Amino acid sequence: MTTPDEPLVLGIETSCDETGVGIVRGNTLLADAVASSVEQHARFGGVVPEVASRAHLEAMVPTIQRACDTAGIQLSDVDAIAVTHGPGLAGALLVGVAAAKALALSLGKPIYGVNHLAAHVAVDQLEHGPLPEPSLALLVSGGHSSLLRVTDITGHDSGVDPMGATIDDAAGEAFDKVARLLGLPFPGGPHIDRVAREGNRVAIDFPRGLSSRRDLERHRFDFSFSGLKTAVARWVEARERAGEPVPIADVAASFQEAVCDILVRKALDAAASEGIEDLMIGGGVAANSRLRAMAQERADRLGIRVRVPRPGLCTDNGAMVAALGSTMVSRGRAPSSLDLPADSSLPVTEVLAG
Ligand code: KG4
Ligand code: ZN
Repeated sequence: MTTPDEPLVLGIETSCDETGVGIVRGNTLLADAVASSVEQHARFGGVVPEVASRAHLEAMVPTIQRACDTAGIQLSDVDAIAVTHGPGLAGALLVGVAAAKALALSLGKPIYGVNHLAAHVAVDQLEHGPLPEPSLALLVSGGHSSLLRVTDITGHDSGVDPMGATIDDAAGEAFDKVARLLGLPFPGGPHIDRVAREGNRVAIDFPRGLSSRRDLERHRFDFSFSGLKTAVARWVEARERAGEPVPIADVAASFQEAVCDILVRKALDAAASEGIEDLMIGGGVAANSRLRAMAQERADRLGIRVRVPRPGLCTDNGAMVAALGSTMVSRGRAPSSLDLPADSSLPVTEVLAG
């Protein structure tokens, strides 16, 4: 149900290879238009920044139009524009920020420059209603893996507080690198997820990073995935050297199990240590079917509630930006200045641009 006094917010996302335009009223999703340039990057095995920026430029106006058509609104109906202003690829971010500024200026509406990572958390409100505060957020994407204590999703008063993060590769990066090693296409996460369904997840006991007693003393809530990636590479190489076939499904399933095990274990430990009863999982890797099932199963045993958006809202999209923008408006946060920058290395603690 939407009520006309809730803010109508258009959100723009261009931090990586998805041009996303979302429209929300309050916490109700009205449109989620995404144009992806992923196919243009696939043959390079990773996102090529210049190609992504050009694709954003080409897709921006048609994607805005498509979102407005789906929502059944005119641009002039919008109360505020929200845009990802970091972190991400500098050139890609610039396209979204420039488009948002042009809209805000021409429509005479406020602009909210928001943090991509916080938006991955805020998006869940579109499906499950206002985020309980405090919540413990496990944020797992292609570029980041963090545990966040969220007391105010708008970032007010240290509202998004990092408890731990990866010390090397991000979880999504590990999925992409292992997929490549197994000859699966880019981006690898969804392919590993699919192939793993046919495999045995206890076939190979891959290492769980930063889980030894000694590591836990210094890195209780941090992650490390580069050792796991190397372990998978060594295991596959040994098979190939021996002239034996590589059981791709078993490797994928066992690798996925190792990643999910450590993510869920540390997230639940962090929640318990803070006395927090709500765990939110966001970012592209939250689309992973095993991660979702394992988190639910283990959290149930501890009486912790789990919120994970549907897979389409976990990967990059504009709705997440609109969702966070809408929260900013309803909580009366001051909009950003029209000269807000694109900031490729924006820290997660800076949720709203000044
Ligand atoms: O959040 P996202 O769309 O973009 C970034 O902000 O990085 O995350 C992309 C990452 C990629 O590494 C991709 O392989 C991973 O999310 N991913 C998955 C799945 N779907 C996407 N990883 C594991 N299982 C999935 N089903
Ligand atoms: Zn993302």
